[in-house]
Amino acid sequence: MNKNAMFRATALALVALSATYSIADDNVFKIGLILPMTGQQASTGRQIEAAARLYMAQNGDTVAGKKIQLIVKDDTTIPDVTKRLAQELVVNEKVNVLAGFGITPSALATAPIATQSKTPMVVMAAATSSITQASPYIVRTSFTLAQAAVAMGDWAPKNGIKKVVTLVSDYGPGIDAEKYFIERLLLNGGQVTESLRVPMRSPDFAPFLQKVRDQKPDALFVFVPSGAGAAVMKQFLERGMDKAGIKLIGTGDVTDDDQLNDMGDGALNVVTSHHYSAAHPSAMNKKFVEAFQKANKGMRPNFMAVGGYDGMRVIYEALRASKGLGAGDGLLASMKGQIFESPRGPMFIDSQTRDVVHNIYLRKVQRQDGHLHNVEFEAIKDVKDPGKHK
Ligand code: PHB
Repeated sequence: MNKNAMFRATALALVALSATYSIADDNVFKIGLILPMTGQQASTGRQIEAAARLYMAQNGDTVAGKKIQLIVKDDTTIPDVTKRLAQELVVNEKVNVLAGFGITPSALATAPIATQSKTPMVVMAAATSSITQASPYIVRTSFTLAQAAVAMGDWAPKNGIKKVVTLVSDYGPGIDAEKYFIERLLLNGGQVTESLRVPMRSPDFAPFLQKVRDQKPDALFVFVPSGAGAAVMKQFLERGMDKAGIKLIGTGDVTDDDQLNDMGDGALNVVTSHHYSAAHPSAMNKKFVEAFQKANKGMRPNFMAVGGYDGMRVIYEALRASKGLGAGDGLLASMKGQIFESPRGPMFIDSQTRDVVHNIYLRKVQRQDGHLHNVEFEAIKDVKDPGKHK
């Protein structure tokens, strides 16, 4: 090899090396945001990425002297991919924080990586109670199904709903929703005549709904993950279940703000329990919704967006409080115990459990300013995750 060729080969090798291993820069703070940008939960990825970018646009990209770099990766809604991406982000990119996690299996698959590398992991979407116990480095800004389901188990029997069939996605959050709803309903004198579980991937609700129609309960309690609500609503109405006197109730995932406005008048009066509605009547939320819609061609933020927005807040303020040191344990300590106002209302990160504590609202679908909204009519204050506070 002549001198020139050797020089070229070395230069090429260096380029290849720097493409794979970025050298840790003390003035940069990296957030590895792993989301389902494609696949079944793509709407969750779209909502959370938009919210994270909005937070940065509103709050700047320099905190405690460090430049914030957001690295977004698409896990295609496949947990093995989430885990591999997390590993690459930690080893190659040397990210300071892992964040995102659209579904429970993705969060659980990544937990050991957070633990081994001592990297704080902010769960912005996934909502099974047990997630925060999978690693001491996990902090959650989304919600838990147990929080929402208990509120419905209290409300329904006090409002004429005694006989219920439950229908949930057959994985972590669905099983939590079913368990905590039923436990509370029975305690309040209600009755569950059947518990149905549908596959998480590409479910066909039709045969299940037919079964429910034949049983004629007072209500059908539903949990399906964000993005699947419109399909349930459509088939529920097509079967004339509302006309047969069966009410649809559930956690707010089923009347997801991302889809609600397109569900049509059949969705009117559906009551759900949840931590966030785009119609939450606070000044902060009004500003948030307006800014979000302006930045995203009119897209309405849903509860996933809020989990992402608040997750960014927790990261920014932890970095500020730990004075830019950015090392895993210091950063984690500054995430615990944060109290602040979110677009959802007041919230805090319980320092013992690292889980979110917030209000759960009962909401009814109504038309407001020509659009379908989840209009809040009752608030249960400061709800901790019942999965850890028995
Ligand atoms: C979850 O997988 O934990 C999950 C996904 C979507 C939801 C709620 C929970 O709407």
